[in-house]
Parts: sequence; C-alpha cells; structure tokens
Amino acid sequence: MNSIHLKSRIVEIAKNLGISDHQLPLELSNPPVAHLAEEQCTLIKADNLTALSWLLDQNKRDIDFCYIDPPYNTGSTFVYHDKRQAKSASIWSKHHDWLAFMLPRLVATQLLLADDGVIAISIDDYEYPYLKILMDSVFGENNYIATLVVCRSKNGKGSKANVAVNHEYVLLYGKSEQSTLRGVEDQDLEKYNKEDEHGRFTIDGLFRKKGDASKREDRPNMFYPLYYSQDGKVYASKISEDLREAWPVDSKGAERRWLWGPEKAQSESWKLYASPKGVIYVKNYSAPNKRIKIRSILDKPEYLNDRASREVKSIFGERVFETPKPINLIMDLIDCCSSPEATVLDYFAGTGTTAHACHLLNKNKSANRKCILVEHNHFINKSHTANAAGFKTTADITEFRLNKLSEDDQSFNFSTQEIE
Ligand SMILES: C[S@@+](CC[C@H](N)C(=O)[O-])C[C@H]1O[C@@H](n2cnc3c(N)ncnc32)[C@H](O)[C@@H]1O
Repeated sequence: MNSIHLKSRIVEIAKNLGISDHQLPLELSNPPVAHLAEEQCTLIKADNLTALSWLLDQNKRDIDFCYIDPPYNTGSTFVYHDKRQAKSASIWSKHHDWLAFMLPRLVATQLLLADDGVIAISIDDYEYPYLKILMDSVFGENNYIATLVVCRSKNGKGSKANVAVNHEYVLLYGKSEQSTLRGVEDQDLEKYNKEDEHGRFTIDGLFRKKGDASKREDRPNMFYPLYYSQDGKVYASKISEDLREAWPVDSKGAERRWLWGPEKAQSESWKLYASPKGVIYVKNYSAPNKRIKIRSILDKPEYLNDRASREVKSIFGERVFETPKPINLIMDLIDCCSSPEATVLDYFAGTGTTAHACHLLNKNKSANRKCILVEHNHFINKSHTANAAGFKTTADITEFRLNKLSEDDQSFNFSTQEIE
C-alpha cells in the first residue's frame, strides 16, 4: 500500500460523501529518500498529510495507537490556523472544508494502523457529528468502539446562550474486529469488601441472565436449581439438608436462565455468591494490576484544561499555546488503548503532550512505547506570545518540549526529521 493507493481511496470516499475534490490535496508530494529514524521519539516537521503519505511509502503499517487532537474549527485566532468555515454548496455547508481537510489524513491513518490498531480523536460538539460520519465511512461503522465524554472545565464556556458547555469528546475506532482496549487500572480497591479463601471480592454482576436470550426457553439446559447457605456459599447440588434452593426466576416471577451451564456451575460454584434472599451473583475478585473497562465519562480533576494550561506555563514559561491537552488525560488514553510496547502516532502534535505522556508511561510503568509526532512549520504571528517568547513556527514549540524532556531526563531521546 503506498501513496498511489492512498489517492484512490481518498477519491472514492470523498465521492461517496459528496465532498468536492477540488478541496482535496490529490497532488501528494513524492516521498523523500530519507528513512524514519528509529528513536524512542521522532518529531517529523512537515505538513501531516505529506508525512503520512511518506510513512505509507516506507511501508510503516504497524502503528498501534494513533491519538490526534485536530483543530476543532472554532474560528478563533490561535497560534495555529483554526478556521475552515466557508459556506459550500454541498450538504456539509460550513463543515465541508474541515471535512475535506480531515478526510485524506484519516484515510492515510486507517492504512497505517496495525490490524489491531486503535485511533482516538479529541473533538468538541461543533464538528463531532460530522467527524462521526466521516469516521464511519473511513473506518467502517463496525469498527466504532465508543465516544468518551471528557469534562474539560468546571464552569464551561460563557460564550454560548443557555448552556455552559464544559465537556468535549474522544472518539474511538479500531482498525478491525481484532482491535481491543486494555482498559484502565482498577483503582477502587475499597469495593472489594468481602473475602474468602480465594481472595477479596465484590458482588456486582447477577448470575441470572438479563436482556436478550435470557428466557428459560432460549437455553433450557441453563435453567436448573442451585443451592445456597445463609453465609452466601453456593452449591450445584444439595449436599446438606439445610441448603435452600434458588432458581433463575426474576422479580416478576418470569423464568429466565443462568449465565453458565450446569457443568461449569458444578466445577466453579465457588465463584458464585448468594444473598440472604437467595439472589445469586458472580464474585468479582481483586487481582494485582487488574484492569477494568474504561468508563465513558472522564471527569478526573487532572483532565481539566486549566491543568494543561498550567503545565504549558511551567514548561515554556509563558502561555505559548492556547489549546494543550493535560498530560494525565493523554497518559490514561495511551495506557488504556495500547500495549506497553506500542508505537504511538500523533500528527497534530502541538506542544508535544503525547510524547511527554509516552515518556512518563515508559518511565513510571516500565513500558517501552515509541512515539512519532508530526507538527508543521506553521509561522507564528508576530503579535502572538509564542513569537515574543522566541518561537518562529509551531514545530519549534513541539521541539522545545522534547529538548526540555531530554535535558531533564537523559533516558529520553528523540530525533527530528524535516520533510518537504
Ligand atoms: C489542537 S492542536 C494540538 C494540541 C496538542 N494536542 C497539545 O497537547 O499540545 C493542533 C495542532 O496541529 C497542528 N496542525 C494543524 N494542521 C496541521 C497540518 N496540516 N500538519 C501538521 N500539523 C498541523 C497545529 O499547528 C497545532 O499545533
């Protein structure tokens, strides 16, 4: 797969979506001869579509996790360009140009991801619905994993009437059905408030099937009696006279079925727990480094934008960038979505938060992730604080943070590559 295939895929999807191709950059530049440096972190200073098409031509089809935080099309004046809102005659109206900008980049990402790779995209509600449709076209609806809601400020935006919006989104897609999330570390250990000879446990899942295919007639062999004692132990047979009987019957008296067949219940009945009223649950045991599914609402104080602004101030001395992401949010996303040996790509690198997050994970959690960043040499307006602080381009901002990281910690190494 190379940039020729990339072009034909871009044209095909643009045609399906009615995105006019005069907006699409179909003249992808020829790949330069240089090869990708294999450092722990590589910063490619280039337009990201050029960089992605170059990576494709290098056959770099093993990206495990791609995190991007594209311009949200707010129309605001930031250190980078964030206004693609011209009215178009297409059905996408004011969203057309932003979609035309994102489309080729997402098509290239889909081709670069490993078969079990995952992409996470930060976005707010202005482009969210359009991005969802675009992602369904590029990655396929089947590969949609979820949308996470991130609480980004306590008070929300004052600029809008009626609602002070204080959240944004992270849209998650997999490359294929092989793509899975590792989940997050289970930090709520207090919930494991019961104990038996197998360890500490909590009871949070009913052993009676709920929802689809939960009726007795759906799986007749999973309708059988269990026996329980008053101290919560469950048995598949009546081994003593004082045991009581429990059936998979719901609160309305409807006959349902258990989750397991009788053989499994016989050999693994120690994993079951009975309430005094005979409701049977599956025990959920605590284990070292246990991971649980990520919740769809992310509202830790460390994820607030204020935190990110303070981080930028402490790294750069000034508020050189208006929309950085908090390190903890990106660390948690990387940790949840990719293995400790993963290659991570961020081609809207900005202040380089993703590289910083990868480095901290490598250091603190004995991981060994590699990180590829792309940021273009976009000239910074003379009136901007970043220019006054000595930064000529946005890629200089990214590089500054990487330099600082390697000065502060010699275990961090990076290289910079410039491609035309
Ligand atoms: C929203 S910011 C990303 C902020 C980043 N997540 C952080 O924590 O600092 C988007 C970044 O993408 C860069 N960018 C926009 N268009 C680009 C392009 N075509 N090629 C490379 N970088 C681009 C902008 O200069 C900006 O730095």
